[in-house]
Amino acid sequence: MSEKEQYKQEANEVAQSYNAFGKAYHESRTGKGRLFNEYLEVPATLALLNEDLAGKTLLDAGCGSGIYATRLAQRGARVIGIDISETMINIAKNEKPAELDITYHLGNLYETHLSENSIDYIICNYVLENIHNLSAVFNEYYRILKPQGECLFSISHPLRAHAIKESKNNIDTWILENYYDKGERISDLGEGLKVKKYKRTISDYLNAGMTSGFLINHFAEPQPIPEGKVSDANAYEMAMRLPQLLLVKMIKL
Ligand SMILES: C[S@@+](CC[C@H](N)C(=O)[O-])C[C@H]1O[C@@H](n2cnc3c(N)ncnc32)[C@H](O)[C@@H]1O
Repeated sequence: MSEKEQYKQEANEVAQSYNAFGKAYHESRTGKGRLFNEYLEVPATLALLNEDLAGKTLLDAGCGSGIYATRLAQRGARVIGIDISETMINIAKNEKPAELDITYHLGNLYETHLSENSIDYIICNYVLENIHNLSAVFNEYYRILKPQGECLFSISHPLRAHAIKESKNNIDTWILENYYDKGERISDLGEGLKVKKYKRTISDYLNAGMTSGFLINHFAEPQPIPEGKVSDANAYEMAMRLPQLLLVKMIKL
């Protein structure tokens, strides 16, 4: 099988999972909100981007139902959202406020079809664990970014992603048996839905970014904002003790 065919097959598998999960995912994000997203990852990510993005072109890579795309278009950016899941893209299109400059495309991040040096910012939140060949996607991000352009990505913290959740004396904890295991993991999306993810260490992510030519400019392991305590007290308490998210900003030199 050629590389291109592999990327297609992998993306189709991911798309099937998110097609089944899309509606429930969007509802959970826009209803009460999720501790790890709305009260942790979203505020930490938005804080790293300028309040005024007028005149900037931003790619929301793996945009899902367009939650970030909307927030960043509201800051004035011209946003392009790409996602492999038809359900996610359709929700994003239906939810798009008419006045915002957002274009959504069904597509694979291995091959964005965007022009070289055309994008000011890329955000890629909770997507890269679905990607088998990280370097191929980082090379594509490097190609389409303008010089000095920024790529911001977040993933489940590998210390969490490689561990098993256990309750010890009624306290949730993560048992880490093998941090260096490079295998696949099946992530439970809830309601019987599952998606395949690839395990990598923190250095795998950073080295792949640097090998593609990026400068690592910011590295964060944020805790939730205080409002999260009201939303989900148990998850909040755990996220105050154990790292849930890795957030990285890379700059194209
Ligand atoms: C957990 S969701 C995150 C959505 C969005 N980034 C957010 O934070 O709200 C992951 C998304 O990545 C998309 N995705 C995964 N692999 C992809 C690929 N190779 N190309 C395009 N989209 C992909 C999935 O379809 C899914 O919508």
